[in-house]
Amino acid sequence: VSEDRGSLTRRQALRGLGLVAGALAASAGPAGAVRHAFHGAHQSGVTTPVQSHLAMAAFDVVGSRGDLEALLARWTRAAARFVEGEPLPGSAGPTYPPADTGEARDLPAAGLTLTFGLGPSLFREELGLSARRPRALIDLPSFPGDRLDPARGGGDLMVQACADDPVVAFHAVRNLTRLGEGVVVSRWLQLGAGRTSSSEPGQRTPRNLLGFKDGTANLDPRDPRSMARYVWVAPRSDQRWMDGGTYLVARRIRIHLEAWAALSLGAQEATIGRRRDSGAPLTGTRESDPPRLDVRGPYGALVIPEGAHIRAASPSRNAGARLLRRGFTFTDGLDPRTGELDAGLMFLCFQNDPARQFVTLQSTLATSDALSTYVTHTGSAIFACPPGAARGDAIATGLFD
Ligand code: HEM
Repeated sequence: VSEDRGSLTRRQALRGLGLVAGALAASAGPAGAVRHAFHGAHQSGVTTPVQSHLAMAAFDVVGSRGDLEALLARWTRAAARFVEGEPLPGSAGPTYPPADTGEARDLPAAGLTLTFGLGPSLFREELGLSARRPRALIDLPSFPGDRLDPARGGGDLMVQACADDPVVAFHAVRNLTRLGEGVVVSRWLQLGAGRTSSSEPGQRTPRNLLGFKDGTANLDPRDPRSMARYVWVAPRSDQRWMDGGTYLVARRIRIHLEAWAALSLGAQEATIGRRRDSGAPLTGTRESDPPRLDVRGPYGALVIPEGAHIRAASPSRNAGARLLRRGFTFTDGLDPRTGELDAGLMFLCFQNDPARQFVTLQSTLATSDALSTYVTHTGSAIFACPPGAARGDAIATGLFD
């Protein structure tokens, strides 16, 4: 059970006792007023119902170990305010720049979550961190077909802001960036709009830019057993400060929309292995029907073709590997070289063992997924996302012990 849900339940229980009616109203009022607690056992923004907007930023550390530790404490305090819809406090008067940049001032919390992550490059000698790198935080291998732009990937630190208002998400990232001045420099920033995975009960599965429903066969973030099995780092891992954390793999995947849209409907559906309208697998009639990968048609051909995306990505093809997908659509204008749309999927996935999960899956997809003709991976990053911070503690606090 995610901590934000946990605290809602706790508040509901307390409200039953007539104790905090006001707090509940504030946390689950009208749509824009939804609030997720920042503190808790796990960071929010992983199993939290997916919001509609993303602002994700990565940074490189230029300061010292002490600067880094102080920055994480500063970021934690600021994040706890932002998720409550509060700006940065204080102003030194009219002759100084205001502490908070101000654009979110009249906006509600809008379901904001802030999730912090640490990249492999942070664990270096110079910062005294080389012995603290978790074994699971691997350097991702290169995959066939990758066209990675170094300016769109990597990073020592990462913050993922998700909210139902794009200005709220952007404001959080922008102000965290300002708080890092002198300690970190920005490396990349990706905005996204349009979640690509379902999350809440009864919520309709959203569609990605292919026009297909995306997220149908995702792990259920409300199922604590599957989150413990696939997503959260189990207690007593090789780096105890990561217990209860998770690993994020981010891939900026451009979709060649013009080529895709020129495919016949039948060819599109064969590429995915599902119907475009209903989201049903080609072997079924309803979205919720489980795909039957071994069923053959009257002439002996597989109904879900050999190269179909859902076959290549299926657990049965990948030694049981599964992920929590939590991606967003991005549209970044035109590619100046070709005039084509630079748009696609900011593929975000959470797992407790990237080598066994993402790498296994992507190795299969890169070689046998029919969809790979229509997509190009242009950015790549991996981050260790520590557990949630207890009240009074900073994110990744155990890292510096
Ligand atoms: C632009 C790139 C991609 C697009 C447009 C895309 C789209 C889709 C669609 C439409 C589905 C079917 C509905 C569903 O179950 O969610 C799907 C399923 C899935 N995708 Fe992707 N996907 C992309 C990249 C990836 C990548 C990079 C991975 C993992 C490395 C991945 C893993 C999966 C998995 C695990 C499933 C469920 C398979 C199953 O039925 O068991 N996808 N994707």
